[in-house]
Amino acid sequence: MRKISFTLIFVLCISVLSKAQTYQNLWIPDTLNGTEFNLTIKDTIKQLRTGNQTITGGINGNFWGPTLFINKGDTVHMNVRNKLNDSTTIHWHGMHLPAVMDGGPHQVIPPGTLWQPYWMVKNQAGTYWYHPHLHEMTTEHLTKGIGGFIIVRDADEAALALPRTYGIDDIPLMVTSRRYDANNQFLFNNVAYGDYVLTNGTPNAQVSLPKQYVRLRILNAETERGYDLGFSDNRTFYIIGNDGGLLNAPVPVTRVKLLVGERVEILVNLGNDAIGSTLDLKAFNSGQAFGFPGGEPATSGQFGSLLNNVDFPILRINVSATSANAIKSLPTSLVNNTYWTAADATVNRAIAVTGGQPGPNSAPFSFDNKSFDLSYINKTVNLNSIEKWTITNSNVFGHTFHIHDVEFKIVARNGSASAVGAYESGWKDVLYLPRNENATFVARFDDYSDAIHPFMYHCHFTNHEDGGMMGQFVVTGTTGINNDTKSNLGFTVYPNPVKEKLFLKINDAKSTAYYITIFNLNGKALIMLPQPEIVKGIDISSLAKGAYILQMMDKETKSISVQKFIKE
Ligand code: C2O
Ligand code: CU
Ligand code: CU
Repeated sequence: MRKISFTLIFVLCISVLSKAQTYQNLWIPDTLNGTEFNLTIKDTIKQLRTGNQTITGGINGNFWGPTLFINKGDTVHMNVRNKLNDSTTIHWHGMHLPAVMDGGPHQVIPPGTLWQPYWMVKNQAGTYWYHPHLHEMTTEHLTKGIGGFIIVRDADEAALALPRTYGIDDIPLMVTSRRYDANNQFLFNNVAYGDYVLTNGTPNAQVSLPKQYVRLRILNAETERGYDLGFSDNRTFYIIGNDGGLLNAPVPVTRVKLLVGERVEILVNLGNDAIGSTLDLKAFNSGQAFGFPGGEPATSGQFGSLLNNVDFPILRINVSATSANAIKSLPTSLVNNTYWTAADATVNRAIAVTGGQPGPNSAPFSFDNKSFDLSYINKTVNLNSIEKWTITNSNVFGHTFHIHDVEFKIVARNGSASAVGAYESGWKDVLYLPRNENATFVARFDDYSDAIHPFMYHCHFTNHEDGGMMGQFVVTGTTGINNDTKSNLGFTVYPNPVKEKLFLKINDAKSTAYYITIFNLNGKALIMLPQPEIVKGIDISSLAKGAYILQMMDKETKSISVQKFIKE
C-alpha cells in the first residue's frame, strides 16, 4: 500500500513536472525603428517540435519577422529583398498608401529582386501588419511564417498613460496554428485549420508579465480559424484599440471574437494577481454558433482540426514583480475619433458573398458571382468620395471582409446601428460577417488615386482569398496633375559608368517617373522602384559590376523607355 502510494506520488510528480516543462518562452519579435527598413524574405528552418526541424519562411529570421515601429508623419522607405525561390509580395495591411506601394497581388517581387516602396505614414497609432499577398499563394507563404507586425506611434497615443514598453508590458501576440506531416513539415493544401497553436511562432507559449496593467496587441494570422478570446478565470479586460487605432474609451468585455486579419489591443489588469500565480489567455471556441470558423466538430480532414469546437490555451501568463513605470489604473478616455456616419456617404454599394453552395455544382466562394481576376476592375471609386458598402452573406458559413487603402467605420449590422458591438466601434479594416448576416461600413477614399494599380477587397480567410473570394477597385480622380498629352518619355542617365548613385534627366519636364525597374541583360528584374524619388538619385551600389537596363514608365501616359548603364 505504502509502496503503491509512493509510486503514485512519484508518477504524479513526474507528470506535473513534464507538463510544466512543456511550456516554452514566448518569442518576442525583434524591433526595427527609424525611417528605412531592411527586410529579407527567405526560406529557413525552425525547431518547432521534437524530431525534425520544420522548413519555415521568415523575414530577417527563421519564422515571422521584426516588428516595425513607425511614426505618423514620417516617410518610411522599405528595402524588401526576396530571397525565396518563388515570387511573392509584401502587403502593408491597414496602411493608407498609394496603390503601387500597397504590396497586393499586382506588386510582384520576383526571386532575387529588391522592391523599394515608400510612403508617408498617415495612419493613427495602432497595430498593423505586413504579409505576403501573391494571388493563389498567400496561404502557402503565410503558412511558412512570412509576416510581421507594424506598430504606428503618434502624439495622441504618446500623451496617454498606457503601457508601451515593448516586450515588458506591451506585448505583440500573433496567434495561429499549424498542421504537421509525419516529418514535422507544415501542411497547407486543403488545410483550413491547424492542429497546434503557435503564439508568435512558439508552441505552448508562456511569458512572465508584471503585476500591473498590461497591453496585448493581438493579431489573428490564421488561414481560417476565428478565436473567441478570454482569460481562464473569465476576468474582465478592456478593448482599447481596433484594427485602425485607439477607441474613444476602453470597452470592458470578458470575451472578444478575433477573426483572421483583425487586430485588437487590450488592457488586462494583473495588479491584483499574486506574484507567481498563473493565468491563461485562451480561445473559448467550444459551442460557437453554426458557421463560426473553427466551430466545426470534425477533428481531422480539410475542415477538421484537433482545435475545432474546443477551448484551448494561447498563452500561459506567469505573474511577476511590478516593473518600472507601471500603469496601475485604466484610462477613462483615449482619443477623439471623428467617425464617418451613414449620412456622410454619397455613394452606396452592395456586395454579396456568393459561391460555396453545397452540391455537385459547388463553386469556390466569391463576391457577386465573379471569381477574382487580376485583369478585371470590379469597382471604380472617385478620389475623396465617402462611400457606404453593405456586404451580405446569405451563405452557409461565416466569412470576413477586408478592404485595402482605407480604415472604415462599421455603421450597421443587419441594418441596425445598435447591433454594432462597442468592442468593434473603432476604425476597422476587417470585419466578421457571420452566416445569414450583413454589415455596412463607411469609408472615405482620400489621398491616393491611380488608374492602373488597384486596391483589393477580399475575405481574409487566405484559403478563400486564394480561391477567388477577392475583388479589386481603382481610385480615380485628379490629384492636381495636369493631363496634357505628353511626348513619349525620353531620358538620359548619368554618370555612366556609375558606382553608387545613378541620376536621371527626363527630357519632358511634364513627365514623372511612375515606375523604374532595373534589369540585367537577361531580362531579370533586380530592383523595382515604385514612384522613385529620382532627385535623390537611385542607389545601385548593391549591383554587381556589369551592364544593366533601366526601364522607366511615365506616370500619365504609362509609356515605357529604357536606357543602358554600366555599373563599375
Ligand atoms: Cu491582410 Cu489584402 O490583406
Ligand atoms: Cu490588407
Ligand atoms: Cu471567406
